[in-house]
Amino acid sequence: MNHKITKEKIRNLLSTELIGNKILCFDSLESTNKTAKENASLPEGSVFFAERQTAGRGRLSRSWSSENGAGIYMSILLKPQIETQKIPTVTLIAGLAVCRALNKSTDDCFGIKWPNDIILHGKKVCGILAELLPSREIVIGIGVNVNNRTFQKDLTDKATSLFAEFGREFDRNAIAANILKELDSLYKIFTAGGFSPLQKEYEKLCITVGSHIRVITPTEEYNATAVGVDEYGGLNILHDGIRKTLDSGEVSVRGIMGYV
Ligand code: BTN
Repeated sequence: MNHKITKEKIRNLLSTELIGNKILCFDSLESTNKTAKENASLPEGSVFFAERQTAGRGRLSRSWSSENGAGIYMSILLKPQIETQKIPTVTLIAGLAVCRALNKSTDDCFGIKWPNDIILHGKKVCGILAELLPSREIVIGIGVNVNNRTFQKDLTDKATSLFAEFGREFDRNAIAANILKELDSLYKIFTAGGFSPLQKEYEKLCITVGSHIRVITPTEEYNATAVGVDEYGGLNILHDGIRKTLDSGEVSVRGIMGYV
């Protein structure tokens, strides 16, 4: 099952119009996001895969462990014509695409931890790092722990993989193609009508909404209740009876008792 991700296999599994119109596969990269950013002149929808990353990066300046040949490490180049304040919703769409694809490949047990961690049995199985270029292209980096056996020491209680949870290996080409298919259809809806048509589905899959949470910002920490997600991708919360909206950029959200 431990087959490489190849352009031919992904292309055979895809019937998308935009996402995956150009596919580039590498054995090793520092970071697929870095390579995608360096190649931002390629057409919208181009996808960059690596079998391993030597300097995989996560949100909030964290690193992303990228075991060779085990996970999916891919970045997608997007060029949406949208207002700046709507850009965060693109990453929510990517989370929705991964969640949909994994739920279809297994048995509907994945959820989204706002803004876009994909959670299985209370642990993180996928992370998404979106980066905006000065020339306004967006690179969506997706890391899915598929057949991964090892996790960073500080993450063993928070991270998991499909292999660890289901006790069998999964076909990375099939999962990656399913994610790209879902992203293609969601991105079409998004470019036509924005995030609003997808807001309800996102909220339904988002395990943060309706939960008591701990909000961690660079300057403060406090408890709150998450009540919804707005049309710009912000998290609506109630804190001391006051309603406010968190922006995903600098904020980290935890469950009151732990990671989710
Ligand atoms: C996070 O949860 O902090 C986001 C992790 C994003 C990891 C992916 S793997 C492919 C792409 N390349 C990177 O360097 N990071 C993203």
